[in-house]
Amino acid sequence: MGATLLGRQTSFAGVNHPGQQLRLPLDWDGSPLVLNETNLEIWPGQTTSGLAINGLLPGPTIRLSKGDVFTAQIQNQLDSEEAVLHWHGLLSPAEYDGHPNQKVAPGESYNVAVPIVQDPSMCWYHAHTHDLTGSQVYRGLAGLFLIEDRERDEALGLPTGIHDIPLVVRDWKSNASYELNYAPSMFEHMWGYLGDTALVNGTPDAWLPVDQGVWRFRVLNGCNARVLRLGFSDSRSFRVIGSDGGLFSSLESVQSLDLGPGQRVEILVSFDGLSVGTSTILRSLAFPIAAPGGGPAGPRQGDPLDLITFHVDTSGGSTAIPSTLPALELTDPDKSIRTRTFALSRASGEHTINGLTYQMSRIDYQVTSGNVEIWEFVNQTQDYHPMHSHAAFFHVISRNGNPTTQPFDQGWHDTVLVYPGETVQVAISFGPRPGLFLMHCHNLEHERQMMQNFEVVTPETPELEIQRAGDEVVVSWPSPSEDWQLQISSDLRTWETINSEPSIAGDLFEWREASTTSRRFYRLSRIPTSI
Ligand code: C2O
Ligand code: CU
Repeated sequence: MGATLLGRQTSFAGVNHPGQQLRLPLDWDGSPLVLNETNLEIWPGQTTSGLAINGLLPGPTIRLSKGDVFTAQIQNQLDSEEAVLHWHGLLSPAEYDGHPNQKVAPGESYNVAVPIVQDPSMCWYHAHTHDLTGSQVYRGLAGLFLIEDRERDEALGLPTGIHDIPLVVRDWKSNASYELNYAPSMFEHMWGYLGDTALVNGTPDAWLPVDQGVWRFRVLNGCNARVLRLGFSDSRSFRVIGSDGGLFSSLESVQSLDLGPGQRVEILVSFDGLSVGTSTILRSLAFPIAAPGGGPAGPRQGDPLDLITFHVDTSGGSTAIPSTLPALELTDPDKSIRTRTFALSRASGEHTINGLTYQMSRIDYQVTSGNVEIWEFVNQTQDYHPMHSHAAFFHVISRNGNPTTQPFDQGWHDTVLVYPGETVQVAISFGPRPGLFLMHCHNLEHERQMMQNFEVVTPETPELEIQRAGDEVVVSWPSPSEDWQLQISSDLRTWETINSEPSIAGDLFEWREASTTSRRFYRLSRIPTSI
């Protein structure tokens, strides 16, 4: 039973401590990303079968810079499951984004070529196979995707090298056989599949030897459903310097912050003041929640969880902290042309957005690239919903109608944590990458239902409005727009043109058909000019 090397050790000299020294996922070398089911030694002396990428759990860390093109082959060598990888946080062309309709069967492979057009940021990648995302991510199909600029970081005076450490946090439901069993109960389908033990970079009982200087940690909440309230056992404060989309313009001090599944945060921590031989623990602090009230015994949202122990083994270290970070030019909410409201509910045991569960065959809305929109998430449940959009970064402008004051709401995000009963508004704008993308809850037990397809269209294309009323689909678009014709597809590959005249309703063209359960996609295409 070949125990697989799961990563290099941190190079910082230290003494031995109980638990495991933090592993660092190996860097990707450009070879195909191979997904397979394999035996791993996550816990010393124990064999765990997991879903690995190039033999690693988490998968290899992809490191690229703005201006590079990420080209890779993805090989699905899983025993029997279809799979597709999504590059979470990457501004990818639609055809490589990892939409669930791009999944491939076991034994098949596909290629991606994604130009890196964004500023340095901590992204990640994970399986996005419809109905299997929660299961495949829990069993291991995830890894880090860092867009870096080390020269910039050095010029800013940020810690680099061994003082810049990624922490991929996930929880695990402990069991005597050390397996990554994914078997949510009814209750867990509702609230999420939570573990009682943390793995950091795939390391159980992780510790890291540190000096007394300032460290940069980049933390990814890779849990299926657990909200992390990050804080230290000695209540030390730390600076929050960045989020999903990269650095903030400030370095506010906090004692704790909430990180929802899918979110990333960059922090600066100084171990100044801790004497050699002492330690502090980064943990998820306990927090009270109104729900769930009943349900079976087991790990709950808000339960405390130790993540990693920092042992101060060495004296000294640089205590320099940059005084400022570069200013950001965020999307201006005053330029918004519309507000879209997404009501997040639960009805008859289903997680819905605006009353609907996800349908692969339905495009829920269209957005025009270049426009600024306000997206409003209205949480009508007692649960947390980390809401995520593919293909854009947004900024959080208000919570419950008040301009947000949470330090972590600054800057660019692709995922925002919407608290029970809360309404959150974000300002969002899409770049020039047309095509089909997803917006969904990143609680991976909610994701399969609490998700919508949207299509980014170019500014010249009239925006389609697709409404479902009873058993009818009403497709409308602004009139006059004589140059455009409606087309329908069941697979997004072949398109059939509707030749019947649309009816006119006010200043809209309108076309109706009975809704079917089979896949129906709609688009406008320019009428070819006859010569
Ligand atoms: Cu990280 Cu659509 O997800
Ligand atoms: Cu949710």
